[in-house]
Amino acid sequence: MSAEILTKAKEIAKRWKNKPENIIEMMHDVQNEFNYLPKEILETLSKETTVPIARIYNIATFYNAFSLKPKGKHKICVCMGTPCHALGAPKVVSALERELKIKCGETTEDMQFSLDISGCVGTCGLAPVVIIGDELYGPVGIQGVPKLVNKYKNK
Ligand code: FES
Repeated sequence: MSAEILTKAKEIAKRWKNKPENIIEMMHDVQNEFNYLPKEILETLSKETTVPIARIYNIATFYNAFSLKPKGKHKICVCMGTPCHALGAPKVVSALERELKIKCGETTEDMQFSLDISGCVGTCGLAPVVIIGDELYGPVGIQGVPKLVNKYKNK
């Protein structure tokens, strides 16, 4: 493990007073800083807080906000709630997979985009809905996918 990563992990733990009850806040800070949860950092947080590593992995896999794999700069998320699904979200996912040349759950080699699905995001009137970073788009048709992706290329 690089000394830099170890220092960063200790710094984040200290920010939250090394308290086991603050482990989720620490994990949010790690996620924000690295865009995912590097294994070495989670191990250090476990040591610093005495929270068992298995518990940390449970939290990491339970919450959508956390990722154990590096994510792209632009996170694309297609809503798969019932209305979005019924109005063509699976086809939108396929179109995005073709456009990005990755499968859902993966990240492009250049680390620009990652593609995931989610449950209802609460804007069913716009179904099918796609979220990219902090922006929400809908209704998104398969013919609009290349233009949508292009908007974020080189951004
Ligand atoms: S099902 Fe997609 S926003 Fe509700």
